[in-house]
Amino acid sequence: MALKVGRGAAAPPFIVMDVIAAANAAQAALPPGAAHVIRMEVGQPGTGAPAGAVAAVQAALGGGAAMGYTEALGRASLRARIARHSQEWYGIDIAPARVAVTMGASGAFPLAFLAAFNPGDRIAMAAPFYPPYVNILTALGMQPVLLPSGPATRFQPSIAMLEALDPLPDGLIVASPCNPAGTMLHPDELAAIAIWCDRHGVRLISDEIYHGLNYDVPLSSAAAFSKSAVVINSFSKYFSMTGWRIGWMVLPEDLLRPVECLAQNLFISAPHIAQIAAEAAFGCTTELQANVARYRRSRDLLLAALPAAGFPTPSPAEGAFYLYADVSARTNDSEDFCRRMLAEAGVAASPGVDFDRERGRGFIRFSYCGPEADMAEAAARLARWR
Ligand SMILES: Cc1ncc(COP(=O)(O)O)c(C=O)c1O
Repeated sequence: MALKVGRGAAAPPFIVMDVIAAANAAQAALPPGAAHVIRMEVGQPGTGAPAGAVAAVQAALGGGAAMGYTEALGRASLRARIARHSQEWYGIDIAPARVAVTMGASGAFPLAFLAAFNPGDRIAMAAPFYPPYVNILTALGMQPVLLPSGPATRFQPSIAMLEALDPLPDGLIVASPCNPAGTMLHPDELAAIAIWCDRHGVRLISDEIYHGLNYDVPLSSAAAFSKSAVVINSFSKYFSMTGWRIGWMVLPEDLLRPVECLAQNLFISAPHIAQIAAEAAFGCTTELQANVARYRRSRDLLLAALPAAGFPTPSPAEGAFYLYADVSARTNDSEDFCRRMLAEAGVAASPGVDFDRERGRGFIRFSYCGPEADMAEAAARLARWR
């Protein structure tokens, strides 16, 4: 007899993860001595955790510390250090009690969505979008509302798009810098959206995971403009600690206890050892800024080379480490295009359909956080591959 399966079983794949598997297979199948596959599909720094974070972990383990559960919202010293970070980066005072340490930004999403929304609630976001937003909301019975956006708003949402919705949504997710376009909401735009959301009873979720990786435009945090916004951040990107699975939220007062209770039940706590590493990572600015300088050089090189190779980038690529290239003149099937590019040019990138199911057929996303020499080699290979 067929057993019942739940709504969550219908969650579509996060296609980038499938492309990573295909690139691994392509690399494994290469004959000895063949040129390696250039990995531009994955949004993961090639560098490991900064040295100071690793040293702190070694010291903690060498000292025989028992790595037990921590409090559900994290170690007090890490929460205080994150609050200080908000002061240092944005000049805002955040009480450490408002900080929740999570298992990456990914661990923060279900906590934030369950605390803030009910099944059936409508949550808006720009399309293209980071796929798990839609897939997690859908698995939780919530309804994503897509705001098609393009170069006119730098692939970001606008108040005009929100006002055109009837009824207004229950929530809005923004990401700045965003994935896949790498564009930002400039400080005045983020402020206006945060204030509009607050006034209209729309819960703002601001994904600030790419903060620190901004090249032209200054950073601002939604927490500076709104007391009702949920801010999500992570040690995965700027801090180069993807596999440590550690992130945080800055919460509004009304969601603090609900998130604490949810976290106690869903996760108990984020990994203790990763919390020690994360706290030490705040002291590694020189090493981390060297990474940012490298990303900037790769971005500049690719922005100059890719359009001539047939990959125009219609948005300014102000942050993160992504370029969203318009390949609609060459294909209307970005998945097939990426497969051929991997097989024929040895360059892996992610198809736009992961981020925008319809319009993404004409886009692909390049990630440029890999080794600098690889980025130059990718530009050369793609110029030859027409
Ligand atoms: C926009 C965005 N948010 C969240 C995440 C998840 O990051 P984490 O490793 O902190 O779970 C990613 C990962 O690529 C991302 O691009």
